[in-house]
Amino acid sequence: MSSVLFSPYRMGGVEFANRIVVAPMCQYSADDGSANDWHLIHLGMLANSGAGLVMLEATHVQRHGRITHGCLGLYSDNNEAALGRALNAARRAGSTKWGVQLAHSGRKGSAQRPWEGGGALRPDADPWQTMGPSALPNGDTWHTPREMTEADMDGVREAFVASAKRALRLGFDVIELHMAHGYLMHQFMSPVSNQRTDQYGGSLENRLRFPLSVAKAVRSAVPKEVVLGARITGSDWRPDGLSDADGVAIATALKTAGLVYVCVSSGGITADTRNPTTPGYNVPLAERIKKETGIGTRAVGLITEPAQAEEIVATGQADQVALARGFLDDPHWGWHAAKALGAEVARPLQYARAAPKLWAPAAKA
Ligand SMILES: Cc1cc2nc3c(=O)[nH]c(=O)nc-3n(C[C@H](O)[C@H](O)[C@H](O)COP(=O)(O)O)c2cc1C
Repeated sequence: MSSVLFSPYRMGGVEFANRIVVAPMCQYSADDGSANDWHLIHLGMLANSGAGLVMLEATHVQRHGRITHGCLGLYSDNNEAALGRALNAARRAGSTKWGVQLAHSGRKGSAQRPWEGGGALRPDADPWQTMGPSALPNGDTWHTPREMTEADMDGVREAFVASAKRALRLGFDVIELHMAHGYLMHQFMSPVSNQRTDQYGGSLENRLRFPLSVAKAVRSAVPKEVVLGARITGSDWRPDGLSDADGVAIATALKTAGLVYVCVSSGGITADTRNPTTPGYNVPLAERIKKETGIGTRAVGLITEPAQAEEIVATGQADQVALARGFLDDPHWGWHAAKALGAEVARPLQYARAAPKLWAPAAKA
């Protein structure tokens, strides 16, 4: 039986060679938001991962919307030129499609890189004043954000649109809004971090007002052929946070705003929340969202095995699967999955002799 995982998938005006996605992964290695040789090599490596789509790391729309001083951005001409250089080189190396995840860190910004400790920047490390829906820190040792004004919201919305236009100029096939993992859009959505008493807080409808306005503004700037989606939170994994049913409502609202897919992740709304550690822990959330909303649905989180990934898409639990750490561990994960599932995957001519069916007889030259 032919593999569903390796069957083509179409969204917007883009056809993906298969259902496998490299999940976005911060590299914390940029220079004032600009990609450098690290990104060129990293993206070049992922160009031949066997995934039909590679999502670039969280790419921030404002300098002070970054998480760390090393985070990637698309807030300046320099950022755009530098990312273009890395992306164009990677494009020449492989045939995968490319997506960018646009993000704003909100109260989780002004942080150290993970290998520096991952906490709040110390006074001598050029910290900045963070902002969020409410003046509530991410955790005890984090910076306290200031409560955002409507002017702040206007600025962030305009920055998302400006960065989306930069992404269009760079020719990305997919633009994803980061609305998960405790970053700014998620901070507005979750009652844990949003305790406003104005029209942006209170009911889910109010908490969604600002993130939805961003989604709609970006949608109006992005032509229909370019895939626009969001990474969302299927659950905050705490009784006072977003529930599975809220995840469905968020996906419904984003679909109405014209987004064509959601990548269903979860967790991260405070420093002390913990996600389940069971294989495919977000898959039931994704399945419910797919069944109840009909929006294109991607599942992510502890999907590691080819047979597991195949089952998720073959049984209709999600349309695509994304892996993050699996691709750092094995940058040819897609090739190895194709071998395990008896499927084909594109390889550059220079590497064609590694294709299993060409292994015998042994190469002569
Ligand atoms: C090094 C690293 C960086 C990450 N950076 C991002 C990011 O930029 N944006 C995002 O939405 N998720 C990010 N994540 C989360 C992953 O995209 C993914 O959702 C998570 O690791 C679970 O998938 P996995 O079990 O396949 O690793 C990151 C994960 C890792 C390991």
